[in-house]
Amino acid sequence: MTALEIRNKYLKFFEKHGHKVIPSAPLIPENDPSVLFTTAGMHPLVPYLLGEKHPQGTRLTDYQKCLRTVDIDEVGDNRHLTYFEMLGNWSLGDYFKEESIKMSFEFLTSELNIPVEKLSVTCFAGDNDAPRDEETARIWQECGMPKERIYYFGKDDNWWIAGEEGPCGPDTEMFYDTGKPACSSSCNPSCNCGKYVEIWNNVFMEYFKKSDGTYEKLKQKNVDTGLGLERMAMLLQGKQTPYDTELFADVMKKLESLAKKDDIASRRIVAEHLRASIMIVSDGGRPSNVDRGYILRRLIRRMTRHLNKLEISLDELPNLIDLNIDILKDLYPEVANNKDIIKQVIVEEKDKFVKTLAHGQKEFEKAVNKAKEKQEKIIDGQTVFKLYETYGFPPEVTKELAEEEGFKADIDEFSKLFKEHQEKSRQASEGKFKGGLADQNEQTISYHTATHLLHKALQIVLGDHAKQKGSNITTERLRFDFSHPQKMTKEEIEKVEQIVNEQIQKDLKVTCEEMTLEEAKASGATGLFENKYGDKVKVYSIGDFSKEICGGPHVKSTKGMGTFKIKKEEASSAGVRRIKAVLIK
Ligand code: SER
Repeated sequence: MTALEIRNKYLKFFEKHGHKVIPSAPLIPENDPSVLFTTAGMHPLVPYLLGEKHPQGTRLTDYQKCLRTVDIDEVGDNRHLTYFEMLGNWSLGDYFKEESIKMSFEFLTSELNIPVEKLSVTCFAGDNDAPRDEETARIWQECGMPKERIYYFGKDDNWWIAGEEGPCGPDTEMFYDTGKPACSSSCNPSCNCGKYVEIWNNVFMEYFKKSDGTYEKLKQKNVDTGLGLERMAMLLQGKQTPYDTELFADVMKKLESLAKKDDIASRRIVAEHLRASIMIVSDGGRPSNVDRGYILRRLIRRMTRHLNKLEISLDELPNLIDLNIDILKDLYPEVANNKDIIKQVIVEEKDKFVKTLAHGQKEFEKAVNKAKEKQEKIIDGQTVFKLYETYGFPPEVTKELAEEEGFKADIDEFSKLFKEHQEKSRQASEGKFKGGLADQNEQTISYHTATHLLHKALQIVLGDHAKQKGSNITTERLRFDFSHPQKMTKEEIEKVEQIVNEQIQKDLKVTCEEMTLEEAKASGATGLFENKYGDKVKVYSIGDFSKEICGGPHVKSTKGMGTFKIKKEEASSAGVRRIKAVLIK
């Protein structure tokens, strides 16, 4: 079964069980500065898991484009991927454990025809925060899962939360037995030996973890499930790695035929990082030195270096992108539409790296000369790290270069510095999740409503062409990008502020209606119509002043939002201006 067939089967199955199919959110979260990339299907649904009403109802299903970077350095082995697709189904306060487990069991055994003998499951063992999940185990047994293949584990294995704070709960994970021999008599699904592969995770989300580490019950009991598409395709096709499935096979073959050096890890890194880079660029990502831009930069640069390592001409890159897009376009038609920009961005970044490679090489030579002066034969860890950090030199390259000089490179010291750096990044990215959708406080909600007021005020002052191009909200400010060909004058800025503040003062009621996209358009609501919304949408009105298609949430009425002040108006890109504004209470 191909990945696309699995996806279609999944969506159809859940549709048959009363779920609405919703479109995948972009890989780069909209309106959410809290995470770099969408990391799970539940991520765009956080407001609805917390109780906001979803316009498509309480049973949803989708495929979601996801990117996870925690294991970026493991890519090259036989299983780790940065980009992957997650199939999911959700109950937003609708069904709970019983129906969820029964549907999963039916899908695995009757739709995918996996023999029950190949399956085992795990449940939450219980602790001071939540009880042992015997109900889940009982339901599995009722489905026909033998008792000896139902395992209990603690929070490390059977509790799911995105980041440190937010909606969470015990989960039940389903495992596929690859038939490999057990690594020991105690081998079980929590073991990493490769015998058991996790295929699906159903999270019973009934708790909210607060920043102080305590748990409280959510308003509603939700189910959030995630099934990794690439992994499922690999297992159902009886392949050993995702690279052997149709998602990668042609690219892997091509790389093999082009390469002068035989190195399977390098081929996998090129194939995987190129695919991930294509998906990121297609959804609007661009390389830079910070945050998601930096992730993209690392992916493209690492891929470039491995092309070099394989001795494949870098001129082949556009052909490899074409080949990849040919595979991806069946799953993600948008990728084919963005082909030109994808090629341009990836090739430009490769060119930039080729330049830094040369500078890095010079830096390396300087370090060698310095060491020689001191009559040392070692490149210290700081230098290895600087070459990594500044010139994108992976440590093994520096090590190889050093060895050619009869030198050693202090990789242990590098690893220490690298770990410290990683720890800092990890803390930063966890911190980032905290401020996010999971943390919808009064301030971010006010900024969301202010964004709608600003959008309308800009259209009044500048004209209808002033359309939203992007938005980003933190607890401190809103940022709004809109189309407008020139700098706004001081008068225009003041006028916009005045209009927004007048509306806030009027204490306008904010109301929400659900309708079809056609009805929304006919009612004059604004919206990013090029976005895929699904068949039913929510339309938020602020008095009679503004009407926009939006997922919410918003304040109930505008009074108390504070005084609106534009702090900055600047160019964002050609024909697009950017406003940063605050609400002063
Ligand atoms: N959120 C859970 C996961 O990512 C299930 O979708 O595994």
